[in-house]
Amino acid sequence: MNKEIHVFRNKEKMADFAIQKWIKLSRDRVKKKGIFSAALSGGETPVKFYEKLAQREKLPWAKTHIFMVDERFVPYESDENNYHLINRTLLLHVSIPPKNIHPILTSESSPQTSAQRYEKEIMSYCKNMRTRLPHMDLMLLGVGGDGHTASLFPGTPALGETQRYAVSVTPGERSKKERITITLPVINGAGNVFFMVTGENKAKVVKELIEDEKSELPAAMVKPQTGKLLFLLDESAASLLSDS
Ligand code: 6PG
Repeated sequence: MNKEIHVFRNKEKMADFAIQKWIKLSRDRVKKKGIFSAALSGGETPVKFYEKLAQREKLPWAKTHIFMVDERFVPYESDENNYHLINRTLLLHVSIPPKNIHPILTSESSPQTSAQRYEKEIMSYCKNMRTRLPHMDLMLLGVGGDGHTASLFPGTPALGETQRYAVSVTPGERSKKERITITLPVINGAGNVFFMVTGENKAKVVKELIEDEKSELPAAMVKPQTGKLLFLLDESAASLLSDS
């Protein structure tokens, strides 16, 4: 697998690096196939990146398609809604056509119907692109302290999904909201997968993901078939990595 590890002093530097990658990839993909597609995560880590990317007006936004990696089954107005977060920090500030934005809508009656609706959205994108899988150009992922990524939590059936593109997930602990997530076939079909991870509380999990080939953590199941895998880490998240 084509894997790179990059360590940055802080989120600001990490965001600058990711922006340079985004600029290159988006221009390149638009030139080659007329379209650039990215699936974005919620969480705290990517916010600085979204805010900085929002200032890049001259990118090929008209030809950029944005998908969501996952969503909590909460109303759009909720602070926990990923689409709301991504809209507020990025999409409302750039001239991307509304038809190019593919949110996971939580106005459905249940997380299951919300996942089905999102799967149809992905399928219709595939149909336009004449592919079976969406083959996103960029998948931006985070990692939780328990090794989850997207809304793929340890021990949940979603991890074994091989056919569906999006499924609903009950994380396990009662207090946590139900969610909708894209599945591993979609993630592993991407051209580039970036894990953005910061903070000391993630150092242990980062070490396992990078150094233990036998890890069974959900994030360790991210193995792009032909795409590139990049770990973008701050110094704290990278602090337990062995020197090499
Ligand atoms: C979310 C993501 C989740 C996230 C990780 C890391 O919407 O919360 O689905 O997978 O990327 O939990 O979150 P932080 O960036 O907040 O640490």
